[in-house]
Amino acid sequence: MTQKFPDGFLWGTATAAHQVEGGNTASDLWLMEMMKDSLFAEPSGDACDHYHLYPSDIALLKALGFGVYRFSIEWARVEPEEGFFSQAALDHYRRMIAACLANGIVPMVTFHHFTAPLWFTRDGGWEDAKSVDRFARYCERAGQALGDLIAYACTINEANIPIMVTMIREAVGVAGSGRREAALAEAARLCGGLPGRFAPYLSGNGHATAPNLIAAHRKSYEVLKPLVRGDVGITLSLNEFQAEPGGEGLRDMADHAINGQFLESLKGDDFIGVQTYTRVRFTKDGVRPPRDGVELTQMNYEFYPEALEACIRQAATVSHCPVIVTENGIGTEDDSRRIEYTRRALQGCLRAIADGIDLRGYIHWSMLDNFEWLEGYRPKFGLIEVDRATQLRNPKPSAYWLGGVARRNEI
Ligand code: NOJ
Repeated sequence: MTQKFPDGFLWGTATAAHQVEGGNTASDLWLMEMMKDSLFAEPSGDACDHYHLYPSDIALLKALGFGVYRFSIEWARVEPEEGFFSQAALDHYRRMIAACLANGIVPMVTFHHFTAPLWFTRDGGWEDAKSVDRFARYCERAGQALGDLIAYACTINEANIPIMVTMIREAVGVAGSGRREAALAEAARLCGGLPGRFAPYLSGNGHATAPNLIAAHRKSYEVLKPLVRGDVGITLSLNEFQAEPGGEGLRDMADHAINGQFLESLKGDDFIGVQTYTRVRFTKDGVRPPRDGVELTQMNYEFYPEALEACIRQAATVSHCPVIVTENGIGTEDDSRRIEYTRRALQGCLRAIADGIDLRGYIHWSMLDNFEWLEGYRPKFGLIEVDRATQLRNPKPSAYWLGGVARRNEI
């Protein structure tokens, strides 16, 4: 039996600048990837050379049947030194957005997706309260240059992930933290920063960064709203938090710190971007790893596509904003599992819509196999395979399948 999505439902795929563009040399992570004893499995290097290949990539998305492309503009390119804004970089992104529009693709632009300019991270990153004004100033300049063409703007990608990573680090204890601290101190030394001040987004202290990230979103929303032609929102990393008997207290505490405080701060935004990959189960003592024999993805997450429906419901209920799924997907070498995962996730979307939730779109992570941060290029999240030697693109069966779903607006 086929089931229809509402008219005008958005269908897209997503990427992020650092993960696909290549050569992001003014960024904080470039330094951390290239240094001796790096925490990264391998450097991002040329990535998918999307910085140059975006015209054919966007045309391919169109040919496959998608209607939206979510990508990020790179702060480290736009403002490589504090106060210097690169007109060339802004022109590049304007051409990119124009290429979307010329192909009939709706552009959704993220202003911060994990990476930042080295000067920013060297000087405390998001741990420093100056981050709020620094980010708003960049948004203002980029918004002035690009906003008239932007249909959807996401201020900060997964603004709650630093606190999540920090709380996991605290729960798991100090294992591995010596290596992390040594890498941060070495990075600080290499860029002439003070030890203890070098704070990349995902390695910073989430307790210190959370209030600044919330304030930065509020301020950048106000800055971008008059500059952007369309809607402005934020995206959050929402896993379904479940409790085993006795684990409710811990679950609720973690849920408030990681999800609730962010969702509650969003009232009045144009949309909330939901990004879901799996569920997390709490006992009274902590997080329970997936049971033996349960299917795991390449990220060691439980294969659990039903989490998306729960997270859409939570986001809608707590934030009162319209919802767009801005990321959902799976790291796997077995593309048939990607189709199964996505089909089940979409069935959950339909159930939420049937219950009256204002769900406006589904954007799959990711368009391309790309640089999965610390894990390097091993995890395969792409609908489209990328030959790392030749940069040739090869759409997988899942790309044709999801493109067909998009075209017909039904599963
Ligand atoms: C969320 C992040 O936004 C994205 O950068 C990452 O690659 C995917 N999840 C998959 O882990």
